[in-house]
Amino acid sequence: MTTLHPTKGTGAAAKPTAVTYVDPAHDATATPPVQAPDGLDPDELTDLLSAMLTHERCGAHLYRSVATRTTNEDLRTTYQEFGAQTERHVAILEELVTELGGNPQYVSASARLTERAAAGLLESTFMLDGSAGQPDRELAMLEAVTLAEAKDHANWDFLVASIANLPDTREARALRAATEQVEPEEEQHLSWCRDTRAQLLRARLFTDDAVVTAEEGVIDLTQLTKEELYSRAQDLNVHGRSDMTKDQLVKALEKH
Ligand SMILES: [Fe+2]
Ligand SMILES: [Fe+2]
Repeated sequence: MTTLHPTKGTGAAAKPTAVTYVDPAHDATATPPVQAPDGLDPDELTDLLSAMLTHERCGAHLYRSVATRTTNEDLRTTYQEFGAQTERHVAILEELVTELGGNPQYVSASARLTERAAAGLLESTFMLDGSAGQPDRELAMLEAVTLAEAKDHANWDFLVASIANLPDTREARALRAATEQVEPEEEQHLSWCRDTRAQLLRARLFTDDAVVTAEEGVIDLTQLTKEELYSRAQDLNVHGRSDMTKDQLVKALEKH
């Protein structure tokens, strides 16, 4: 498996444009596109898969970078886990493109634009390091991951929808097999990003002991009686509530 971006050395291929020079030995203009299922344009599918593959490769680099720079062990564990899954997505896409008769080293124009956008996202996590504290740096890293995962999720979601009603051909089956492996993980990546970003922001925005409920607005738990705290713990089915002191009930409710 490789998550390296295609280069001359890895056999990269591209199509020249008015502003893009391509060494004739690496010119993909005459290379046939991937074999597409009936109903899909082979050239467009080739370019889409190339852009998706590039986004996954950039995602693997982003995860590797933030996993080494976060100081939060919980975040590091998840960055490493999702990073490993993202490397697997790279391998799945490379195998899919090969199975469809394409070249995983082909770089479409939209893949080049994807790479530039992803590089900017990675840069945003460290360019202003000297002028930001660790909480802001953590947020910048998580937000870069969240934006990358939003696009990652949208890519796979689009592919799933695009092939949903196609006839059951070899090409359609290959695409379905890839999406079935990856799409559930993309759901998990994006929902974790959203939840964790909200957690980081909440921890900074709300004062200690404050909780917010839809019905009552902001509540300071320390102002409630033990009976009121217990009643809330009962509603939330907090485990071990009967043996808790008032302070422990406050802490348990804060977690909820
Ligand atoms: Fe992915
Ligand atoms: Fe992802």
